[in-house]
Amino acid sequence: MKGIILAGGLGTRLRPLTSAISKQLLPVYDKPMIYYPLSMLMLAGIREIQVISTSEHLPAFRRLLGDGSQWGLSFSYAEQDRPRGLADAFRVGRTFVGRDPVCLILGDNIFFGHGLPEVLRQGASLEEGAVIFAYRVRDPSRYAVVDLDETTGKPVALEEKPEHPRSNYAVPGIYFYDSEVVSIADRLEPSERGELEITDLNRVYLELGKLQVLLLGRGVAWLDAGTHEALMQAGSFVQAVQERQGMMISCPEEIAYRMGFIDFERLGRLAEAMADSGYRGHLLKVLAEESGRLPVIGATAGE
Ligand code: G1P
Repeated sequence: MKGIILAGGLGTRLRPLTSAISKQLLPVYDKPMIYYPLSMLMLAGIREIQVISTSEHLPAFRRLLGDGSQWGLSFSYAEQDRPRGLADAFRVGRTFVGRDPVCLILGDNIFFGHGLPEVLRQGASLEEGAVIFAYRVRDPSRYAVVDLDETTGKPVALEEKPEHPRSNYAVPGIYFYDSEVVSIADRLEPSERGELEITDLNRVYLELGKLQVLLLGRGVAWLDAGTHEALMQAGSFVQAVQERQGMMISCPEEIAYRMGFIDFERLGRLAEAMADSGYRGHLLKVLAEESGRLPVIGATAGE
């Protein structure tokens, strides 16, 4: 399975923070926002990833993420010239997706919680149809809302930002699709706001009887970083959990190592490259815990 991170958009609700910087590069405590959705793809076992953004911001994403080989991944980049909707990602990413199943994740969606890797792997093992998620929120009308049958738990209706939501279940910005998704996206018509809606695409799968909805339970945090308050809260949340546990949330270097994408030596080199940042301290701790010894920093310099 391949992965797409959609990191376009104008970030208008976060101006002036986003006047010169992509929203998905803003800090969520100690990491750029895009590290969080990237980590979800990695935990799902996905290593071939395309980042979609605007021509203005793509150079910064390339600078941050490179070709992905440092984390045992492969990144490609594609341009979306203006916000044409989430489902447009499959038109932009057509060549990248090819005949493979694909996971789309929004560059500003942050997830954390118990059991998440298992749920992600379940999504990534999909062979036919689509897998989306339902998450209970207080204010569902800000999102796509899914109505689930009370007895079977199966989806019966999907609506984008309904004024009168039929349930409290919002659909978070992570979606798994079979390879049909590109041709389905091709057939979509823009909505009233002129965008190719992901909810219209999901509704096609629903009508085909091929949409599976997995519940993300209350033990999972789904945060959105779309307003100044939400961005601050997301940062505070990450800081509080990391401080308490002494572990990092969504650290691509650590995940790459634990998933077996890179080896111990490579992790040591990545730690070294972090200079005197506190981030390096965490990577050193992982190395120490893994081996019972601290790597000899500097031994591999110059490679
Ligand atoms: C988008 C989608 C919506 C989804 C949400 C998740 O909304 O259109 O269906 O629930 O992402 O973050 P947006 O945040 O672009 O308004």
